[in-house]
Amino acid sequence: MYNFDEKVDRKNTSSVKWDGMKAVFGKNELLPMWVADMDFPPPSEVLETMKQRVDHGVFGYTIIGDTTSKAIINWVSKRHGWDINPSWLMYSHGVVPSIGMAIRAFTEVGDKVMLQSPVYTPFFNMIESNMREVINSPLVLKNGRYEIDFTDFEEKLKSGVKLFLLCSPHNPAGRVWSKEELTKIAELCREYGVIIASDEIHADIVSPPYKHIPICTLDPSYSDFIITFMAPSKTFNLAGLQSSFIVVQNVEMRKKLQDIQKKEGFHTLNTFGIIAMEAAYQYGEKWLEDALDYIKDNIKILKEGIENYLPELKVIEPEGTYLVWVDCRATGLDDKEIRQRLLEKAGLAVNFGNSYGQGGEGFIRINTACPRSIIEEGIERLKLAFQ
Ligand SMILES: Cc1ncc(COP(=O)(O)O)c(C=O)c1O
Repeated sequence: MYNFDEKVDRKNTSSVKWDGMKAVFGKNELLPMWVADMDFPPPSEVLETMKQRVDHGVFGYTIIGDTTSKAIINWVSKRHGWDINPSWLMYSHGVVPSIGMAIRAFTEVGDKVMLQSPVYTPFFNMIESNMREVINSPLVLKNGRYEIDFTDFEEKLKSGVKLFLLCSPHNPAGRVWSKEELTKIAELCREYGVIIASDEIHADIVSPPYKHIPICTLDPSYSDFIITFMAPSKTFNLAGLQSSFIVVQNVEMRKKLQDIQKKEGFHTLNTFGIIAMEAAYQYGEKWLEDALDYIKDNIKILKEGIENYLPELKVIEPEGTYLVWVDCRATGLDDKEIRQRLLEKAGLAVNFGNSYGQGGEGFIRINTACPRSIIEEGIERLKLAFQ
């Protein structure tokens, strides 16, 4: 078993999380618990595969072969009970680029694209930078758990929304949507002719009793208006290798996305992205189970630390993802003060809730995919900031 307690020094590796703090927060001397990547190396088989490829030494153009699609298909079938046909698979350098492609493929400039805030910031950016209109159906926090206000959801769809960006599991709300919720989402979108682009990048970061359900699997007819984004990047900490895939069953929708890729000159992934993705899906299951257990304990320790020492902070317990969303509103501090205390007083870099849209104000997001010692230091720094 990999020793997740081991601290790998990531400084001076061009890591966004460790070396990119100066650009965002003004200094690098902070404990980084922000950007959603892990501080762990991927499964050893992935490293071994990459080393062997380096030793081979020639890095010309690379195709994405059957062995790669087979590894993806087996993984999604085993973990999520979804039998994907190889012809439904498309590849992309990332889920955010895929979101951009879907916006361009299925909507026109000025069209309405819906999301559910507080949500992963690039959802907003991709809609706005593609000159579409953001329609927000905010999630509602009820008894410490986020829910969908389906009355509002339907009202917004009715207003002429063309595309809905579903985040499933949801970052940062931590929800793993239930079968009932997903069915309701799909049925309403079908009723109002809205395409769903389902970002399922966090699909694998879910532990029992929760279970991720790919929305497209709920009914065979859903594939006529739903496309799904998945990737090994969150699951196996491979974000720097930029490989992801899109599942598009409907031929016309696939053609539209392929046209966009053609215009962009996209034809393949990076050699290392391909082989790492394949090895991870093929050999990484045990590593993932161990990582999930470790992260589950990290979340528990962080939650207990906050409950014991900082009763004004409320942890929104995540059902999925390794990101913990913390409600700091009872401190009475505004976002500027929260930021100032964390960065200046405590030296702790987190993601600040106001960048996630309406409903994010007064919250922070803490990344727990790190060695236990960082969680412990993070708790100390939270105490320093808020006590
Ligand atoms: C919901 C969600 N989608 C997409 C991404 C990033 O995707 P990629 O790096 O493949 O562009 C993240 C990263 O945090 C995320 O949380």
